[in-house]
Amino acid sequence: MDNLQDYSLLPDPLSSFLYWFNEAEKVEQNAPAMAVSTYDPKKNRPNTRYLLYKGISQNQLVFYTNYLSPKARELKANQEVALAFYWHESKKQVRIHGRVAKMSLEDSTTYFHSRDRQSQIASYLSAQSTVIEDKAALLAKYNDTTKLFVGESIPLPENWGGYLVTPYEFEFFLYGENRLNDRFLYEFKKQNWEVSRLQP
Ligand SMILES: Cc1cc2nc3c(=O)[nH]c(=O)nc-3n(C[C@H](O)[C@H](O)[C@H](O)COP(=O)(O)O)c2cc1C
Repeated sequence: MDNLQDYSLLPDPLSSFLYWFNEAEKVEQNAPAMAVSTYDPKKNRPNTRYLLYKGISQNQLVFYTNYLSPKARELKANQEVALAFYWHESKKQVRIHGRVAKMSLEDSTTYFHSRDRQSQIASYLSAQSTVIEDKAALLAKYNDTTKLFVGESIPLPENWGGYLVTPYEFEFFLYGENRLNDRFLYEFKKQNWEVSRLQP
């Protein structure tokens, strides 16, 4: 097996991911977003969208969203999730498979109130991914919600909070010369991370 350190990788994929992520953050222009794929059983098809990556807590990757959204419905039916990060400047990709669970109400509340007020209002008013007539209707909802809570803090909406992804598989990809890309697969087996190199 190769020396993982030559690729800034460690035997533990979470530490490797954090290292790659922090290195990428220094040079990338984009927000720390990740592609999140779920499976829609009704339409028998996968669904991918970008979400903000909000760090790692107790070895789990964190994101926040609406608990009544299509993604939340899909995650209720199937806790399997696939994530992908791409860093253009760094020429790197990380793919992750994991299982999701909802964050505790307490932790969601703490995070919700750490966001700026406009974001809290937007989360409060939005029935995410349902149809609305036009922008004016959306602005009216925003203004109504703003008025409703003048001088008060915005309560955590019942239908909003965090998810925690427990990863069980990582693939680290680094562009190589002549398309001889370096790819390392980490699989969690028998309480251990096994690493193998994949062909480009
Ligand atoms: C860069 C980026 C970051 C986003 N971050 C979030 C997020 O953290 N939470 C969220 O609910 N939607 C986020 N969105 C919107 C989602 O991509 C998506 O449109 C929305 O969550 C509805 O998805 P759904 O209909 O599959 O549930 C983000 C979009 C972009 C482009």
